[in-house]
Amino acid sequence: MTSWHTLCAEADFPEDGKLARRLGGWSVLVVRTDEGYRAVNDRCTHQAAMLSPGKVRRGAIMCPLHGARFEAATGRCIGGAYADLRVFDLRVADGTIEVAVPDAAPGPDERPVGA
Ligand code: FES
Repeated sequence: MTSWHTLCAEADFPEDGKLARRLGGWSVLVVRTDEGYRAVNDRCTHQAAMLSPGKVRRGAIMCPLHGARFEAATGRCIGGAYADLRVFDLRVADGTIEVAVPDAAPGPDERPVGA
């Protein structure tokens, strides 16, 4: 089961195109791409670094620790070295960005270091 959580008003989404928040116990990173907003688990699948301090370019999120790149739309690791990111459903309703995260708290292998 998942539940929808409010991230922010679309008008308040940061200019730099990314926003990290704790929602329902999950560390969620939302990025803006040419195709719209995408939500992923804010945890690199290599060594669990938070991805949110990394750069976002052309729809890809770059891990700040060792540079792994992930496609925001699908969570796919570009270049293939690591597992894909968990992605979350996202919707914009009445100008508000909402993300659906599992009702169950993230397990130890789904929490980023420092969260
Ligand atoms: S922790 Fe992300 S690339 Fe190593």
